[in-house]
Amino acid sequence: MTDTSIFPVPEAFASDAWVDAASYQRLYDQSISDPEAFWGEQGKRIDWIRPYTQVKDCSFSGDVHIRWFHDGTLNVSANCIDRHLATRADQTAIIWEGDSPAEQRHISYAELHASVCRLANVLKKHGVQKGDRVTIYMPMIPETAFAMLACARIGAIHSVVFGGFSPDSLKDRIQDCDSRIVLTADEGLRGGRKVPLKANVDQALKSCPNVGTVVVVRRTGGQVAWEDGRDFWYHEEMSAVSPDCPPEEIGAEDPLFILYTSGSTGKPKGVLHTSGGYLVYASMTHQYVFDYHDGDVYWCTADVGWVTGHSYIVYGPLANGATTLMFEGIPNYPDSSRFWQVVDKHQVNIFYTAPTAIRALMREGEGPVKRTSRTSLRLLGSVGEPINPEAWLWYHNVVGEGRCPIVDTWWQTETGGILISPLPGAIPTKPGSATLPFFGVRPVVVDNEGHHLEGATEGNLCIADSWPGQMRTVFGDHERFVQTYFSTFPGKYFTGDGCRRDDDGYYWITGRVDDVINVSGHRMGTAEIESALVAHPKVAEAAVVGYPHDLKGQGIYAYVTLVDGEEPTEPLRKELVQWVRKEIGPIASPDLIQFAPGLPKTRSGKIMRRILRKIAANEHEALGDTSTLADPTVVTELVENRQNRA
Ligand code: PRX
Repeated sequence: MTDTSIFPVPEAFASDAWVDAASYQRLYDQSISDPEAFWGEQGKRIDWIRPYTQVKDCSFSGDVHIRWFHDGTLNVSANCIDRHLATRADQTAIIWEGDSPAEQRHISYAELHASVCRLANVLKKHGVQKGDRVTIYMPMIPETAFAMLACARIGAIHSVVFGGFSPDSLKDRIQDCDSRIVLTADEGLRGGRKVPLKANVDQALKSCPNVGTVVVVRRTGGQVAWEDGRDFWYHEEMSAVSPDCPPEEIGAEDPLFILYTSGSTGKPKGVLHTSGGYLVYASMTHQYVFDYHDGDVYWCTADVGWVTGHSYIVYGPLANGATTLMFEGIPNYPDSSRFWQVVDKHQVNIFYTAPTAIRALMREGEGPVKRTSRTSLRLLGSVGEPINPEAWLWYHNVVGEGRCPIVDTWWQTETGGILISPLPGAIPTKPGSATLPFFGVRPVVVDNEGHHLEGATEGNLCIADSWPGQMRTVFGDHERFVQTYFSTFPGKYFTGDGCRRDDDGYYWITGRVDDVINVSGHRMGTAEIESALVAHPKVAEAAVVGYPHDLKGQGIYAYVTLVDGEEPTEPLRKELVQWVRKEIGPIASPDLIQFAPGLPKTRSGKIMRRILRKIAANEHEALGDTSTLADPTVVTELVENRQNRA
């Protein structure tokens, strides 16, 4: 695939789009030359209780701080619900499609309002106040969105923990933000299999003495243990409170949520997003990137446990009065036509998923796609990892039948919303490129010393100035925020990604340049997996790297040194995989484990990951200079016993 294959904006699409090529250029230029004026105007897209007079107060150096619209007040849930009631009370806000094709629900804006108000009252009844943290460990059901919005209604800060995380990971996240209340369900349901959410909460709470309340949604009706005085059924609580709960007045810079994400070092950090700027940015990007128009049915397949679910299932779409589809299941259950059956059933117009799902479905051939009609589809989106041109073309030609533009959206948990993406009515696409920056976003490419690289080039991707959706801090650790994002290249936000910029100024994200790996669009820190491995009594040392994987994008390759006297056996290998699943969750399962008597280290004891990455990628012919190693012979042994011989 060369840079020369360009897919023009379909004419029919451009004529109805919010933004065409000329207005993209004009608005982008304006957003960069006068951000105050630009965002001052755009901020009005949401309702403020007290309008802001200040727009932007941000510094990426010295005393690093990020504030937007900071003297304004608003309520995020009122923006996502109440303000639509006059015109769309009966319109469907959330279409829920269950794991089984037989289950579905339509929740109107009026019903959403009633449920969110009741749940906010339940939270208040249990003592939750503005600023308190509420942990949400729930499946993909509408009650999860109710829970997020109920927190927003009273100014509590939600921390959604993905339902695939282990009790131990859940415990860490509850402790880090000191939540006193957890919302969960009896069990989740995915692909016909049950996920023991309540049992996991019970396990986690053994080490969380401060949690006094657990509210449990009955999803499957499965048996659960019960602790009287601590555990409460959601349906009983909901029926016992009033459906009336006026929205609290919240400062623009008051926190909306914490979302834990993996970095290159240490435990996952609590990315903190605030209210005003986040909502302006999430709603604006949702409208323009997905070219959302009234009446469209929009479906993002992400889990609400990730930032994509926060910004593009819940907050962005609902702020825009959209109909957002929430899917409990998986792409290949009951069969590999499921996504497209759901598209037909609910007449989905805009579909947003991850490359890993596209690659998995592509492997099943065109049959399962062609069995469905998909004529409702107008636009396709991709997120989470680089999309390889083959998958892009299949998505475009087979799923979209050449009719639908593809928006490859690059962004991060930290960015709150999409930063680099085509606007589908304005920007011609190239398979594999996220193309051009959104309004107000100033990408810069720097070399390892931080020098700006101009024109067509390749290097580290930084952002030169703030945008309203940017994270504000790491919860409870502002120093870590400054260190992680603003110290590598002082004065700039460092994304951790590498990228190439071509002659047209298009960006091609090449993947992480730090010790973060991206497995099926899930972000993992190698350090986390290593510390899970060394917690096993038979493991002395571990080093984890990513390697290219056909379906997952990257796979997890672990080098493990056992303690003296332990034998490297097949059963032990399996045990270690299970161990990591239990410690972190199934998404962290190593794909390959190599028992390594020694790891390549420099004389000062630093593990040379560059070499480990090459061996894992089966590129052992090109190991580069190994002369600085304390013991170069370990490399020969590692190459001989490598696990990936693809
Ligand atoms: O490496 C980039 C990759 O996912 C990382 C962010 O992961 P997370 O915070 O979990 O958020 C994922 C959903 C926004 C980025 O640093 N990434 C995300 N989108 C793309 C991508 N890489 C290439 N192309 C994308 N469209």
